[in-house]
Amino acid sequence: MREKIGIGVIGCGAIAVEAHLPNYAADGRARLVAVADVDRARAEEAAARFGVPHIYEEYRELLARRDIDAVSICTPNDVHAEQAIAAAQAGKHILCEKPMAISLEQAEAMIAAASAAGVQLMVGFTHRFYSFNERAAALIAEGAIGKPYTVRVRFAHRGPYESWSARSDWFFDRRRAGGGAVLDMGIHALDLTRFLLGEEIESIWASIATLAHPIEAEDAAVLCLQLTGGALGYIETGWHSWPGQLGAEIYGSEGTIIVDYRTPLRLFRPEEGWQEERDFPPGGGWPAEIRHFLDCLASGEPVRPDGRDGLISLRAALAAYESHRAGRRVCLL
Ligand SMILES: NC(=O)c1ccc[n+]([C@@H]2O[C@H](COP(=O)([O-])OP(=O)(O)OC[C@H]3O[C@@H](n4cnc5c(N)ncnc54)[C@H](O)[C@@H]3O)[C@@H](O)[C@H]2O)c1
Repeated sequence: MREKIGIGVIGCGAIAVEAHLPNYAADGRARLVAVADVDRARAEEAAARFGVPHIYEEYRELLARRDIDAVSICTPNDVHAEQAIAAAQAGKHILCEKPMAISLEQAEAMIAAASAAGVQLMVGFTHRFYSFNERAAALIAEGAIGKPYTVRVRFAHRGPYESWSARSDWFFDRRRAGGGAVLDMGIHALDLTRFLLGEEIESIWASIATLAHPIEAEDAAVLCLQLTGGALGYIETGWHSWPGQLGAEIYGSEGTIIVDYRTPLRLFRPEEGWQEERDFPPGGGWPAEIRHFLDCLASGEPVRPDGRDGLISLRAALAAYESHRAGRRVCLL
């Protein structure tokens, strides 16, 4: 690896300008070399804002640059696989936004391409990187609430154009997005459930609806999970919701953990009652995600969440659609 890690960003919409570009720009180990977007004006705007010297409409021209070591893929879901495979073949490490792909075949091909090229493939499951979630996972792993019995994760907002500032119009197009709110928001919750409990999702049962928007894709879902350690999981997700609860609750044999994104983490134990846990650094999220990617590129340590994590949560999200369609529980293992 050269002195500074050369970075290219493919797709210059909302997630690129909110999360990737500012955090690479702020990290002295990275050098932003180029951006690419089919919408040249958007690429020019992002390049001007973050001082990026090279601009492309065709991402393959960006990949051909020898001074780029790694790329962020910040495009609509249906082109992640094609772009990640091309990046791997060009020898670039990859941070790909979630969902990593819209089919299992695509995800498997991405993992195979990265492995064949010997490059890192990370998937942007940002919620793992919030310090309160890291602390909650550590408390659970050290037995602070005993054996987890149930976990409830709620991630919902009003959708990509009201609560998030998506710049182009693919989110509601099932062919481009691969699905609706389950694949967009639910997949974060599926990954977070695995991360918090350190267990795999054994089976999933889903109920899905389109309630709040005049769209073909689903905008609300409830997912019921069975985890390998015996715990039961419940995920509520969607693009249907005005502000409300956002976070996770884990109920175990020896206590409770409540992670509410607007308050400190709370821990209940029968002998001690409620305590507010503040014993973790503030922040996390996107800055920590980008920092982890750069840390791993600098040290050669493997990234997490990696392509396999991306594949496992994609499989669970796609199984939710199958469960709803078939009206039955779907086994994943
Ligand atoms: N990790 C998170 O918390 C998080 C949050 C929001 C979005 N995302 C993910 O980020 C990705 C992008 O979402 P967004 O909200 O930024 O969307 P967006 O519509 O704001 O931006 C997408 C950009 O990609 C460009 N683009 C489209 N096709 C392209 C191609 N073939 N080559 C190059 N550029 C192309 C578009 O012109 C647009 O500028 C999605 O996969 C989404 O799920 C992740």
